[in-house]
Amino acid sequence: MNFISMNLVTMMYLIASVCFIQALKGLSSPATARTGNAFGMSGMAIAFVTTLALILKLKAEVEQGSMGFALVALGVVVGGGIGATLARKVEMTKMPELVAAMHSLIGLAAVCIAVAAVSEPHAFGIAGVGEALPFGNRIELFIGTFVGAITFSGSVIAFGKLSGKYKFRLFQGAPVNFAGQHMLNLILAIVMVGLGLVFVTAGGTEPAWLPFLVMTAIAFVLGVLIIIPIGGADMPVVVSMLNSYSGWAAAGIGFSLNNAMLIIAGSLVGSSGAILSYIMCKAMNRSFFNVILGGFGGDAAESGPAGAKEQRPVKSGSADDAAFIMSNAETVIIVPGYGLAVARAQHSLKELVEKLTHKGVTVKYAIHPVAGRMPGHMNVLLAEAEVPYDQVFEMEDINGEFGQTDVVLVLGANDVVNPAAKDPKSPIAGMPILEAYKAKSIIVNKRSMASGYAGLDNDLFYQPNTMMVFGDAKKVIEDMVKAVD
Ligand code: TAP
Repeated sequence: MNFISMNLVTMMYLIASVCFIQALKGLSSPATARTGNAFGMSGMAIAFVTTLALILKLKAEVEQGSMGFALVALGVVVGGGIGATLARKVEMTKMPELVAAMHSLIGLAAVCIAVAAVSEPHAFGIAGVGEALPFGNRIELFIGTFVGAITFSGSVIAFGKLSGKYKFRLFQGAPVNFAGQHMLNLILAIVMVGLGLVFVTAGGTEPAWLPFLVMTAIAFVLGVLIIIPIGGADMPVVVSMLNSYSGWAAAGIGFSLNNAMLIIAGSLVGSSGAILSYIMCKAMNRSFFNVILGGFGGDAAESGPAGAKEQRPVKSGSADDAAFIMSNAETVIIVPGYGLAVARAQHSLKELVEKLTHKGVTVKYAIHPVAGRMPGHMNVLLAEAEVPYDQVFEMEDINGEFGQTDVVLVLGANDVVNPAAKDPKSPIAGMPILEAYKAKSIIVNKRSMASGYAGLDNDLFYQPNTMMVFGDAKKVIEDMVKAVD
């Protein structure tokens, strides 16, 4: 079975790593996302086949036959089957849930590998038979275990909150707070690290199981406690943060197992997840700690009439009026938001844009980085309706055009066009917005005057050149399509 040399393994891992880097590069733009995915899949296939070949080689070398190849094959068939089925069935809006579920498995895998490595270090080539775990490996295993355990239980809670299907209190979207919560978390974290240090510094050939296992149990509890105070609407940031944790857990285990592929892939996941969390927080103008300490936006996603803040006069019109104004415009910019996704109105919207374009109107879509409830939510929504990429513009590329635009059509968006962000006293001060307020005419579709996720009133709705068209986005757009005809 010595058909693969360690040099070849290193070479294949290097190729897989380059594929992963290309995947991240491709995924940075909707136009190259498919190529990025293809690179990612190729990289994973190369890494997977190489690792299987490596297992076969090691199995042939290690007399005990402790690396049951049949078990590995069974895991591949069962795990791969479940993964493929879930990925085929999942709806786009349910993607964050699926990602949270997958992260929980990465965390659990890290813990299981660490426990196995502590128990049988010789089977992993970390120490000789009967020898103690080296000091460095104990540190790596300690870190990999607690990060993995926090990732597992935290991701399970995030999954429950995102799915919104379960009655269990901890899985509800609303933040779960109690007195002394942060202090309890701090004490548990200190005890966990203390026990980890006892495990790392303990002498003798037998591992210090008790501190190790109690430390792991505390990490599982901490994962739950860290995530429960966070509101459901903040979950996308949390999922991206847990994504980062799962990467670091994998990298930590990679060091213990001396596996370069795990270290590289884990670091890529860890750093890209951290960067994405940072970008999301910046686009929401909230600090990372503000999100993690929780309590914001718990129920705001379910905005209703009660969310209306002021009784100021607004101008409202019908879908027919809006269709007339747009048909007579030269340029129209469409701002999609969370409400468009809720109404699943993307296909009707594409039809509307086709009809307007046919009448000679130039139509563009403007996408805010955190419009909707997950990164790239609007891009995915429009891609689902096969909207051409060249009609879709990111905020920084289109913001300069609003001042010269005849009509802006805001569909189920609120915070991302709220001019309050320009007011230093506003809670969203400094949040970058799509500058829809600068257009000659503004048409806003939503169901009521309720606030958006941030719970703030929106001055855009009261501007003299703004017309509100109340109603569900799908119904309103369908009426607009008929009127344009
Ligand atoms: P929001 O500010 O939440 O506003 C969405 C609006 O859609 C609501 O005001 C709601 O008003 C309306 N709406 C709901 N259902 C509708 C329907 N069926 N038809 C028509 N309108 C409907 O959304 P946004 O402007 O997209 O901003 C996103 C917000 O989420 C930001 O505050 C952002 O910071 C936050 N956030 C985003 C992310 C990511 S990564 N995207 C992650 C976490 C948080 P009515 O109830 O009156 O209809």
